[in-house]
Amino acid sequence: AGIAGLRAALEAADHRNIIVVCKGAIDESNTWNAQGGIASVLRKEDTFESHVADTLRTGGGIADPQVVEQVVRQGPELVRQLQEWGAGFDQVDGKIDTTLEGGHSHARILHAHGDETGRAIAEALIATVRSKPNIRVIEHFFTIDLLTDKDNRCIGIIGHDKDHGLQIVWAANTILATGGAGQLYRETTNPSVATADGLAMAYRAGAVLRDLEFVQFHPTTLYIAGASRALITETLRGEGAYLLDTKGRRFMGDYDEALELAPRDVVSRAILAQMRKTDATHVYLDIRHMNKEFFAKRFPLISDLCESFDIDVSHDLIPVRPSAHYMVGGVKTDSLARTNIENLYACGEVSSTGLHGANRLGSNSLLEGLVYGKLAGQAVLASEPSDLTSLKHPAIRYNIPHSDRSQLDTADVHNSMRSLMWRNVGITRRAQPLTEAQEIIRFWHRYVMDKVFDTREGWECQNMLTTSLLIAHCADLRKESRGVHYRTDHTQTDDKRFRRHTEILRAG
Ligand code: FUM
Repeated sequence: AGIAGLRAALEAADHRNIIVVCKGAIDESNTWNAQGGIASVLRKEDTFESHVADTLRTGGGIADPQVVEQVVRQGPELVRQLQEWGAGFDQVDGKIDTTLEGGHSHARILHAHGDETGRAIAEALIATVRSKPNIRVIEHFFTIDLLTDKDNRCIGIIGHDKDHGLQIVWAANTILATGGAGQLYRETTNPSVATADGLAMAYRAGAVLRDLEFVQFHPTTLYIAGASRALITETLRGEGAYLLDTKGRRFMGDYDEALELAPRDVVSRAILAQMRKTDATHVYLDIRHMNKEFFAKRFPLISDLCESFDIDVSHDLIPVRPSAHYMVGGVKTDSLARTNIENLYACGEVSSTGLHGANRLGSNSLLEGLVYGKLAGQAVLASEPSDLTSLKHPAIRYNIPHSDRSQLDTADVHNSMRSLMWRNVGITRRAQPLTEAQEIIRFWHRYVMDKVFDTREGWECQNMLTTSLLIAHCADLRKESRGVHYRTDHTQTDDKRFRRHTEILRAG
């Protein structure tokens, strides 16, 4: 349902029959929720070289320069196409308006309806997808597993449809665009559908997963007990918001000379440190100096959110703290979105294309989804068309032994796991809590993984346990600090041993 999957479907739609299966409703995605925008070089004072340099610098030495070049250069054309499909990016004086975000050396973040950028993009893509006779959209379909044959080719998926129960979709080509994994953490900006399903099913199918230790935390999400952790876009700081601690002190100067516009991993760690120093659960965003009309027009979503909690931004401060935001690692692809499994492609947040390296530059993810969605669609078009009706489909066998050993409260396992991940595999990490996290998750594995579930909650619980163990394991292996991965017991970047990727593949 996000930008990558929808864009992929559109690329292939004129020459192939496409089924888009969405886990929830088509408007449930991280794309829909994106506020800040999409980064692209559209102003004459900006250059591709500058966007490439910013992306590589943020990537901590392991982003792939060719991939970065390809994504940055294809950006403007694909953004214009989005406009033709109906995404109305905000304009000033007849030209696209752009904003600054941390880590960017030019104002190159496009936005729509102020902070409703993701929604504007998603609506345009959904309307275009719905206009294509060759694309069928099935909502509320939980994909349980990828199907592979004995030659390690992907031949479709098995899933659960809300109305029709278990279903198999045979497919000549399968594109994984399942989004992120924020729900592995107690605090997250992600919607409830972001439960790492794509990562877990790709791992089970034998795909190579890469760099799972790199989980990006967003510095500023609303922190009000009982409220969901709504994102407060970084572009608010780009437009001049300050960060204050609970004693009213503007503290970013203690941590980075770029102040509030330092890269988001730096800001997240600074907030965490300041919370500890002041013995507080949060810090504040201060926009009391900002013109109230400008704020309401430029940030309508946040303005409504603040109003709904009686926060008058011209007098009151906005309580914020960091939370899990984006899975930087993912299913390894080549530069054409192909995975190591034949006929299986990946794009968007679930993938690891090489664009982000060890840290994602803000607003580069919608851009990546757009470019790699197109590339995945093109890869499908380049494959031999096959007549699915003539394929001999293999029999499907479950080989998971059923167990009645213990009664399960999956909601309890889920909540405990999210707290554990937040405490032990969060913004800062060190050996002992990482070891402890793996031990506890392995213990949960013992009585959750041998069950055959028939509910979404059960399948999600298994997927989250699979992925959280892999993340904790990869974070343990990388005994250095790089990008978003910060080890308090190895605070330096160790290029000699670790200027490389972490790849993980299921044994057997
Ligand atoms: O702060 C934001 O609006 C987030 C942008 C992003 O994650 O790319």
